[in-house]
Amino acid sequence: MKHTHLIVLICVCFFSCKKNKTVSCNDANPLHEEAEFKIGAAIDLSSYYASIAYRNTADRQFNSFTAENAFKPNALHPDLNHFEFALADSFSLACARGDKRLHGHTLLWHSALPNWILNYQGNEKEWQNLFKQHIQTIVSHFKGRVKAWDVVNEAFNEDGTLRKSIWLEKLGTAYIEKAFEYAHEADADALLFYNDYGLEFNPEKRVAVLSYLNNMRSRGVQVDGIGLQLHISLSYPDISQINEALQEISAYHYQVHLSEVDISINPLNQTNLNKEKLFEQQAQLAAKLVLAYKQLPNDQQYGITFWGFSDAYSWIPTYYGREDYPLLYTGDFQPKPMYCKLKETL
Ligand code: XIL
Repeated sequence: MKHTHLIVLICVCFFSCKKNKTVSCNDANPLHEEAEFKIGAAIDLSSYYASIAYRNTADRQFNSFTAENAFKPNALHPDLNHFEFALADSFSLACARGDKRLHGHTLLWHSALPNWILNYQGNEKEWQNLFKQHIQTIVSHFKGRVKAWDVVNEAFNEDGTLRKSIWLEKLGTAYIEKAFEYAHEADADALLFYNDYGLEFNPEKRVAVLSYLNNMRSRGVQVDGIGLQLHISLSYPDISQINEALQEISAYHYQVHLSEVDISINPLNQTNLNKEKLFEQQAQLAAKLVLAYKQLPNDQQYGITFWGFSDAYSWIPTYYGREDYPLLYTGDFQPKPMYCKLKETL
């Protein structure tokens, strides 16, 4: 074939491929390049440092990182007067070098709390000091490096009441508002998020969260966004519920972060899974999720973060004790249909 013919052929293919966004399951090009918003992943730091395949995939595919566990209170604040920043600092350096947005997860949670906090014997004033010092030491330490914080994680029950936690017990119902105030004082440039699960399918919980946040915002407290974790499955919730939640939340002008996305293909812990079929359904659902997210105004699209990327490293099988494959890549880092479908849809 003549040289010019070959060039014409390549061009035709390039433009038609681009137009239809037909992709084969090839991950040579980064996923994040397809999107107008950030595409993130939760990173398990030990795997990131131990496995070259893990690190290469993470570095290539995503432009926003959330440490899966390393920025939680038990990791960063292991004792009353001791903060442990070395590991998180080295990760923040890797993010800066790799041009990744670093999302901080999380300052306050009822879980991943060090025992010393649970056992702390202090009077009211001492609890208030501890609370403030916990938030402000961490936020100031990462000032300019952590773009946004999940200030509070999972503080509401399903019925919309505040979840029992040490913070609620010791500081009262205003602790969420106080946390946002303290975080803002420590880093006025950081974006501040409230993060939770179930907001996408439980209107009662959603209304409670929105009214708490709207209320504090109306009194001048900065709250920039809401994170919807979206640990979802093929059977639940319905995409229409997710759509409704996204529309409702964004109508209040919050930034919206799909913050911990994974799609379980085996919520009922069945055996003999038809993986090929289920992976295809998983891909279809992921595409619908992306389309729903793309409906939001651009300046409210903080991004979509997956809770990991390789099935072998997902928290779901360990945490729920079942066989499952909720992420974009197989255990040996081969892109799955969900990955390919996202490339088409983003
Ligand atoms: C999970 C991690 O993925 C696990 O490795 C860890 O053992 C427990 O926490 N909601 C959250 C995340 O906000 O922090 C949780 O992460 C998953 C549920």
